[in-house]
Amino acid sequence: MYTDPRTAQLMIIGIQLAGTHGAHPGAWRMPQADPNGYADIDTAVRHAQVADRGGLQFIFVPDRPLLDADLSQGPPRFQMEPMLLLTAIARATERIGLVPSMSTSLTEPYTLARQLKALDVISHGRAGWNAIATNDPAAFANYGKSMPPRLEKYERLHETIPIVQALWGSWEYEAGAPDKNGRFADPAHVRPVELQGQHVGARGPLPIPPSEQGQPVIVQAGGGGLGLQAAAMYADVIVGMATSIEDGQAYRKAIHQAVTQAGRDPKTVKLVMFVTFSLGDTVREALDRRRELDARVDERPRMAELGALLGTRIDPSRFDAPLPAGLLDADSSPSPDPRAARARRLAREGWSPRDVIAHGALDHTPGLAGTPADAADFLQRYVDAGAADGFILSLDAHEDGLPAFVDKVLPLLRERGRFGAADDEPTLRERLGGPAQYGLRPRQFGN
Ligand SMILES: Cc1cc2nc3c(=O)[nH]c(=O)nc-3n(C[C@H](O)[C@H](O)[C@H](O)COP(=O)(O)O)c2cc1C
Repeated sequence: MYTDPRTAQLMIIGIQLAGTHGAHPGAWRMPQADPNGYADIDTAVRHAQVADRGGLQFIFVPDRPLLDADLSQGPPRFQMEPMLLLTAIARATERIGLVPSMSTSLTEPYTLARQLKALDVISHGRAGWNAIATNDPAAFANYGKSMPPRLEKYERLHETIPIVQALWGSWEYEAGAPDKNGRFADPAHVRPVELQGQHVGARGPLPIPPSEQGQPVIVQAGGGGLGLQAAAMYADVIVGMATSIEDGQAYRKAIHQAVTQAGRDPKTVKLVMFVTFSLGDTVREALDRRRELDARVDERPRMAELGALLGTRIDPSRFDAPLPAGLLDADSSPSPDPRAARARRLAREGWSPRDVIAHGALDHTPGLAGTPADAADFLQRYVDAGAADGFILSLDAHEDGLPAFVDKVLPLLRERGRFGAADDEPTLRERLGGPAQYGLRPRQFGN
């Protein structure tokens, strides 16, 4: 794919570290995976070092403070604890950004501000914060609470984020650097914030000086409605879930509008999308690798799910052969599921049901099973269509999938001038190309 380097847009690429093995539920069973990897910091650090070596801009750690896995089938889906994990990773990596997910619903602003800014200082300006209005009743139950109505959760978020930012800025740059012959810092520039809302408050100041990037970058999942409005107000990076390029373009429009309404410049807010890849030197090799993963999970519910997308029941005798055209044509009311069109196209092309699934047809994120060049082309198409500024990789199995992406896809993107120009920038904010911010932004909450 040829792109004019004068107009080519560089892309941001981060990686999701959920659990340790990868996004595929069969990943922990693969021969090269350590089944204890979930609780093994060395495994997580090793993956982080591969991502850092490749120049990926950040590690995104999703989180729900609850147990949401069937432990008879596999490990918990989320890390033991994102802040501790990323602190260990900070000490074992050099450049990569560190973005933990932390709840505005369950954590007090002072704790959020303190832990996140400490991570930012410890990592020399590489921290971000995925700020989440938690929506799991089971997570609230873990804090002895019941889930409040949605509006109230967002009221609390709108109090929490500005208080956190104000606390971050409460040790002002003007406090100066320690002078052994004079004073340590100017106390007149380390000031209380004195903010109290309906739900949360903090006096401050926070006894942590600015990091190399000032304070952590804010990342938020946009969702829709109240979530999008909140992301438009605070986020430097908005994380989206698009099912197609068209979907991404529509989402970008919605963000543009919401960010403008919030009085900010849409060009300063980056949109990153989740993508999923299974890589091989040929498409067949990529599919076979994915099928090894698929073979390690219960196939029946997945075939039933595929059948629902295709509008037909798939008999086990047909799992490995192309579905007859008659079966596919028989469906007169196509599934409204956004994955259905792709599943039907793949089945019509003659791929067997097992291969259709191996293509990632059941994944909720866009992506493909294919060669490194296919993956690079795919990413470029999204960026060139204005559907994303970048991506969060959700790889099926990290043990081999992450080195494959770093060693085979990234060099292609670099060669094409689409990735890596800000490699030398030391902080996450600079590597994302975001504007400076310390404390609250002007116009934010009467500041
Ligand atoms: C791309 C994406 C990533 C998300 N990551 C997390 C996560 O790591 N932890 C979490 O609790 N919620 C996560 N969410 C959920 C949202 O933060 C939010 O709770 C959800 O969109 C619905 O909330 P609401 O219906 O109350 O607005 C994510 C949502 C999206 C779209």
